[in-house]
Amino acid sequence: MSKKFDLTDKTAIITGGGSGIGRAIAMALADSGATSIILDLNLDGAIAVVEEIQAAGGKAEAHSCNVADHEEVQRVFGDILKGRSLDILINNAGIAHVGNILTTSVEDFDRIYSVNIKGVFNTLKAGVEAMKNSGGSIVNLSSVAAHVGISDRFAYSTSKGAVHAMTLSVAKDCLSYGIRCNSISPGRVHTPFVDGFLAKNYPGNEKEMFETLSKTQPIGRMGKPDEMGSLVLYLCSEEASFITGSDFKIDGGFVTLNT
Ligand SMILES: NC(=O)c1ccc[n+]([C@@H]2O[C@H](COP(=O)([O-])OP(=O)(O)OC[C@H]3O[C@@H](n4cnc5c(N)ncnc54)[C@H](O)[C@@H]3O)[C@@H](O)[C@H]2O)c1
Repeated sequence: MSKKFDLTDKTAIITGGGSGIGRAIAMALADSGATSIILDLNLDGAIAVVEEIQAAGGKAEAHSCNVADHEEVQRVFGDILKGRSLDILINNAGIAHVGNILTTSVEDFDRIYSVNIKGVFNTLKAGVEAMKNSGGSIVNLSSVAAHVGISDRFAYSTSKGAVHAMTLSVAKDCLSYGIRCNSISPGRVHTPFVDGFLAKNYPGNEKEMFETLSKTQPIGRMGKPDEMGSLVLYLCSEEASFITGSDFKIDGGFVTLNT
């Protein structure tokens, strides 16, 4: 019997794999046989995940990289891919921001743009260049914020809408290279991203806000990083070979069941 979702001998780059959803994705891909190569601003976080993967018998590497820096992304991809090909790219690194059109400063907007949009552009450019001769699978992290109006998320929603559009564009333009490109749109997932948001915006009230945010998913809780990892694993596998240009909501019913 053959094993499903087998990624033996595949090489995967995961941006922002040193924490939260990216960590869970790196672990899921490595658990299925891939070498998970983590690119993160926070090298210590990336190394800790690599050590976890190796302790469980998997293959992984950590590299320091700021996805917002075009030259650095080009150099890091060049170093990593000397003598090997790239099969999987996960564009997961992203940052959050709270504010509406009136309270979002130009500096805030530029910061979100530089990581969540230009960062994805930078790694897509390097990744597609590396995959264009042998094909591969790309998964981008969008968000429910790309699909519905979430209050006070002007810059963040804009950036995730752009991720959605970049996914469609790459999926269409790169069909002939054998590259599939999809995105996932999580609802709230319990990660350091959420804990940091609560600590910054609701100091002293974190527990109550955690409950409130949990209940905004009709299913009654936040998502778990491992649930994101499993969906991404599927999308990267041969089992998903008929899927490209699709976005998958993984949100406990947030977009479709909240009336
Ligand atoms: N957690 C959620 O509720 C949620 C919901 C929808 C979408 N998302 C998206 O999922 C992705 C991961 O979110 P998370 O909750 O795991 O976040 P997280 O903050 O736990 O992890 C993000 C990781 O990205 C890294 N990173 C940040 N900026 C970087 C840069 N410029 N270059 C390289 N690495 C960088 C961080 O160091 C960190 O390791 C993000 O794109 C986020 O927008 C998260």
